[in-house]
Amino acid sequence: MTDTVIMEYHQPVMLQECIEALQIKPQGIYVDLTFGGGGHSAAILPYLTTGRLIVFDQDPDAKANALNDSRVEFVAANFRYFSKYLRMYNIKQVDGILADLGVSSHQIDAPERGFSTRFDTNLDMRMDQKGKLTAADIVNGYPEKDLVRIFSAYAELRNSRTLAKSLIIARAAEPITTSKQLKKIVLPLAQRRKENQYLARVYQALRIEVNDEMLALREMLAQTADALLPGGRLVVMSYHSLEDRLVKYYMNTGNFKGEQEKDFYGNLIRPLKPIVRKPIMASMNELERNNRARSAKLRIAEK
Ligand SMILES: C[S@@+](CC[C@H](N)C(=O)[O-])C[C@H]1O[C@@H](n2cnc3c(N)ncnc32)[C@H](O)[C@@H]1O
Repeated sequence: MTDTVIMEYHQPVMLQECIEALQIKPQGIYVDLTFGGGGHSAAILPYLTTGRLIVFDQDPDAKANALNDSRVEFVAANFRYFSKYLRMYNIKQVDGILADLGVSSHQIDAPERGFSTRFDTNLDMRMDQKGKLTAADIVNGYPEKDLVRIFSAYAELRNSRTLAKSLIIARAAEPITTSKQLKKIVLPLAQRRKENQYLARVYQALRIEVNDEMLALREMLAQTADALLPGGRLVVMSYHSLEDRLVKYYMNTGNFKGEQEKDFYGNLIRPLKPIVRKPIMASMNELERNNRARSAKLRIAEK
């Protein structure tokens, strides 16, 4: 695959920082849980000699970028099942795991996928196009209390109840199937001059719910400690605070509440040790080149 294809599909974020964080051993086994355009994987590969790289993506579109190399295995699956697949490949433990969460530029820029607020298109938002639940199913079919739940938890909106009610009233008149219809309902509820942020948060909540992102992330993180060899590295990049909180808590404490457990002598009991206290952010230089790097937070832990 050429560099041009990678750049068009997705420009990798904090590429050098991720590679350094993985501390790649030439004979090691590495896992890229979010292959996307393959930018991170393509940068890992030259560091490997006899090592292997197992890559995952739940979006079948990503397979078109698969690296043609005998050391690489592409698994078209949700990363919440990654340990099971490693066992299928007879791999007990690995030297490093990378996860670059969220959606790729390819997914955002393809109007028919429904991830972007920019287009008038169907309300879809599935990363895995075989998935059963779409954003249209949620806005048309969820009971009011569940709409309130997702807008409160995943968009952190103060007026989730009003929004849920507005959707219920609108859908009683006609099904809400397009982003144009959704915007007409949502935008009047936003504060003046904050319309875009409000809409982006509503979209974020729907996307998280469609793809069951928070649970998939927890399930994936919970498998990493056992999947890593001693000294192995977990490198995770997240793009919003809900994700980053789970990653931080898990790396610091081994649980998702951030509750510290100590032994008799007062030593922390946790499966991984965080390598950085504060998340690493993209450099000014990178931000000038890639606006999508602005919300990225990189965290690293070692077994
Ligand atoms: C930000 S992009 C990764 C970009 C990649 N690092 C690159 O350099 O091109 C995230 C990718 O992860 C995939 N993804 C997100 N959640 C996933 C999950 N639970 N299981 C498998 N793939 C997932 C998305 O389909 C998307 O292609």
